[in-house]
Amino acid sequence: MLTKIIDQLICPACLPQEHQLTVKIDQEKDDDIIDGKLCCPHCGESYRITQGIACLSPKLRPESLENQRYETEKLLSSYLWSHFADLMGDPEASTAYAEWSQLIASNSGWGLDIGAAVGRFSFEMKKKCDLVIGIDTSFSFIQAARNLLKKGHTQLTLPQEGQLSRTTSLQLPPELPRQDIEFIIGDAQALPFKSHTFATLSSLNLVDKLPQPLIHLKESNRVASKEKAEFLLSDPFSWAEATTPPENWLGGTESGPFAGSGLDNITKIMSNGNFTPAWKVTDDGAVWWKIRTHRNHFELIRSCYLKARR
Ligand SMILES: C[S@@+](CC[C@H](N)C(=O)[O-])C[C@H]1O[C@@H](n2cnc3c(N)ncnc32)[C@H](O)[C@@H]1O
Repeated sequence: MLTKIIDQLICPACLPQEHQLTVKIDQEKDDDIIDGKLCCPHCGESYRITQGIACLSPKLRPESLENQRYETEKLLSSYLWSHFADLMGDPEASTAYAEWSQLIASNSGWGLDIGAAVGRFSFEMKKKCDLVIGIDTSFSFIQAARNLLKKGHTQLTLPQEGQLSRTTSLQLPPELPRQDIEFIIGDAQALPFKSHTFATLSSLNLVDKLPQPLIHLKESNRVASKEKAEFLLSDPFSWAEATTPPENWLGGTESGPFAGSGLDNITKIMSNGNFTPAWKVTDDGAVWWKIRTHRNHFELIRSCYLKARR
């Protein structure tokens, strides 16, 4: 974990109070903490940094995720393909990440990619921001993203049919920057950052995957700069009871405070005085996004976006 981000880190367990974390470094290389611990002087919670990855959620521990390996490998392959297939010249690839990237402007200050998965959009954001942090709850996704960041290349095993697979190589192109990017484990609903840390924020295909999507919006607002901030949110709004209790959906219901369309409701939440300073939604639309399961099976998803500024 880059030493230069330490000053912006707070204890997520203490929110809404913001208590800065202290660091104990066991191994460091070129301003990158490989092994160590972040501690909250207020509540006593500690957060490990292992293999360079900080796990900044009290609920998530890397060890507890290791038994999900088989499912994780398939998902990892699907997401690496989804994020980087266009860079590998795959004719089936979507151009979704390049399209989302076109939607954000160059902005001095830091960027936050919330629900970063294997990191493609964090690399895209770094073209426009001074420093970018990608945050996700998945240890294997963040490990793959950080591995790609450090090495610039990786191997992908792509399922073909049944037990058949093929291995292919991914090399990050030189136009994707690899300096001043960090990937950490953490929760979009309890972001481990001081208020107003980020000038540019993205939340791509995450809102409908959270138990408390409104808290995620509030947290995004909290860590966003008060002025000259930009927020790109995109989602297919595939509300599901298995991930989000219906009373927490921000759309997709006939009645209740968030009846109607998720995109319309989020536009209202952001611009009608819930957040100060209020956001102004400047653009909306949709991007076709694709995930590969195997050679003959892809999911095509319409992700509806809004772009907001303040
Ligand atoms: C559908 S994927 C989208 C990934 C990426 N933003 C994209 O558009 O390709 C949702 C991502 O959110 C992550 N995620 C789920 N719950 C989360 C949470 N509470 N906080 C942060 N990330 C979360 C998942 O691990 C996964 O990487």
